Amino acid sequence: MSKTRFMTIERHIIEEERLHPEATGELSRLLSDLAIAIKIISLQVNKAGLVDILGLTGDENVHGEHVKKLDMYAHDMLFKAMDHGGHLCVMASEEEEDIIRIPDDFKLGKYVLLFDPLDGSSNIDANVSIGTIFSIYKRITPDHTPGTLDDCLQPGMKQVASGYAVYGSSTILVYTAGHGVHGFTLDPAIGEFILSHEDIKIPEKGKIYSINEGNYLYWHPGLKKYIKYLQEEDNATHRPYSSRYVGSMVADIHRTLLYGGIFMYPSDSRSHHGKLRLMYECNPMAFIVEAAGGKASHGSGRLMEIVPSNLHQRTPIYIGSKYDVDMVEEFIAREEKNR
Ligand code: AHG
Ligand code: MN
Ligand code: MN
Repeated sequence: MSKTRFMTIERHIIEEERLHPEATGELSRLLSDLAIAIKIISLQVNKAGLVDILGLTGDENVHGEHVKKLDMYAHDMLFKAMDHGGHLCVMASEEEEDIIRIPDDFKLGKYVLLFDPLDGSSNIDANVSIGTIFSIYKRITPDHTPGTLDDCLQPGMKQVASGYAVYGSSTILVYTAGHGVHGFTLDPAIGEFILSHEDIKIPEKGKIYSINEGNYLYWHPGLKKYIKYLQEEDNATHRPYSSRYVGSMVADIHRTLLYGGIFMYPSDSRSHHGKLRLMYECNPMAFIVEAAGGKASHGSGRLMEIVPSNLHQRTPIYIGSKYDVDMVEEFIAREEKNR
């Protein structure tokens, strides 16, 4: 019999709020609004093959990437669900170059929301798991004024909450508000997210590594040595590791969180800053994985200490079980010394 209590995400958020005596309930209502938006996106994702929402919009986004219709649908849905709740002073999205202002006729709140509305877009048409990632900060500019870029560009360690949804064989929502990491599975019959993974802890060491090996040629020599090390045989350290790579960050990180191991998207000789975006992919995932007892590095230090300079800046990321992230940092540092 599962020890997990029958609990909806709304109930759980309220119980989390009680852990913070000073809480006003604003963050709780913000998280509940997000859960509703994710339910609606999940509905659309699950019938994407049936309605004309697959394929490309014909536009390119700020990163020069072809925008999928589902990217824009998810972006619009999040904006419409979150702009009038009165909890936010500003938003930012992968699909918008600038910050997203709260419309004048809506109340301004004290939180900041950044999001990747749809992660893993290249996998949409192949029906491979995709997701949504969100990151929440408290504003740093004066209350009751429109939020600014400064409110958005805070180091990841300043987050007050973060989470992701994986639209896969089921829709799972994982979040942390600083007190543990909790997962909820959507029960489509009742339209509720039910607690299914209470207080997730990532294994101290894993036996799975996750990276796009197609970029091997361009990697740092220390990373090449690390991957070769993982492929050697050694029972004591469970080597060779297995290799798993979905190509959707949310799916690869969700597996890493539950099973342990390491997910890497490094910088390389072609992409000097890596591919994944700091503010709405790497920081929220780092906040979750650290809250679950793991580690998130940019290769030579704590990822959430990066002081952002640009809304869409990219960063290398090595994230997962502490033992494994420590190990890859050692291999990279050793090769740096030999350079
Ligand atoms: P997005 O769809 O939001 O642009 O994100 C895609 C990202 C991420 O989900 C994944 O880890 C990575 O792209 C895969 O990149 P490669 O195809 O280069 O491996
Ligand atoms: Mn993404
Ligand atoms: Mn995206």
